[in-house]
Amino acid sequence: MTTQTYDWLSYAARIGECTSADTLAGIDHELFGRKAGLLTIALKELGTLPAEERRRKAVELNEAKRTLSEAIALRHKTLGNPSGEQLKSEDGIDSSMELPPLSPGHLHLIPEFIRNVEEVFGRMGFDVMTGPEIETEDLNFNLLNIPPEHPARDAQDTFWIQQPATSNQKFVLRTHTSPVQIRYMQSHTPPFRAIFPGKVYRKDADATHSPMFHQFEGLMIGKDINLANMKAVMITAIRELIDKTAEFRFRTGYFPFVEPGLEVDMRWQGEESESREGKWLEIVGCGLVHPNVLKNCNIDADQWQGFAFGFGIERMIMIKHRIPDLRSFYEGDLRFLKQF
Ligand code: DAH
Repeated sequence: MTTQTYDWLSYAARIGECTSADTLAGIDHELFGRKAGLLTIALKELGTLPAEERRRKAVELNEAKRTLSEAIALRHKTLGNPSGEQLKSEDGIDSSMELPPLSPGHLHLIPEFIRNVEEVFGRMGFDVMTGPEIETEDLNFNLLNIPPEHPARDAQDTFWIQQPATSNQKFVLRTHTSPVQIRYMQSHTPPFRAIFPGKVYRKDADATHSPMFHQFEGLMIGKDINLANMKAVMITAIRELIDKTAEFRFRTGYFPFVEPGLEVDMRWQGEESESREGKWLEIVGCGLVHPNVLKNCNIDADQWQGFAFGFGIERMIMIKHRIPDLRSFYEGDLRFLKQF
């Protein structure tokens, strides 16, 4: 079967000469009508042609389709809308003018990752809570077993906020999400399991540190929650959030609010020379919640025990997507953001 041949270009001329919106709508229908449009039919019949001819004809028809639909749209604009209504308002704004197409956006890598974290931990039965970014000294430090003279404060002794005259508390931009553990324990009765994602602030700035970054904290308290449960949760989270074959290692670490404390490092998955911190990056601190912390939240440490952890979100994403410089997350460069 051969398709009928039309002189498509003559339609372009007719469109250009069109003086009424009705005639234009008629030509539009003649060409593109859903059932009987000439181009619609010709395109449908392509499938019945022998391969060689089909290829040649497809190029010709698609070209005609593009040229003619553009010509119709253009003529449409010059003629005004089909009802003939004047769309230019008195102040000269043409509300019928076509705008350039919008390209749909998507979530930034970080909130997208946090949603994924909530989903993965949600499946393991974890609740989600968030806390304020301006925290009291008590919640950020003291109740977490970090008293003022403790050396562990040094690394996090950062953005203090002027103390309001009416308050006996000092305020700080929270240096970790750990204070949300305290807030959660003070407002819930064990057993429980929950995660706390959000922004935190420190004074470092280089390729692997930023003055603002994201963490998610986790907490699981019960009658007999132990280190083995903690490792199982950590390993599941890393495999689900980064990838099934991710390489990581546990080593001992010190944090005043846990005993014992552990750190988990992940292996950089790209070229080693691209990583600014060598082949292992620390991504999480964790351990069994210190009895003093439980006591500070009025939880009986003889009856209840469990673990806590704090993941660095940017670092996990850096490993997942082999992003060598953490600053790329915040530069707002679309060439970077559109890749994900
Ligand atoms: N808050 C720690 C930090 O920012 C991370 C951390 C370590 C959180 C051990 C924990 C934990 O909950 O148990 O460096």
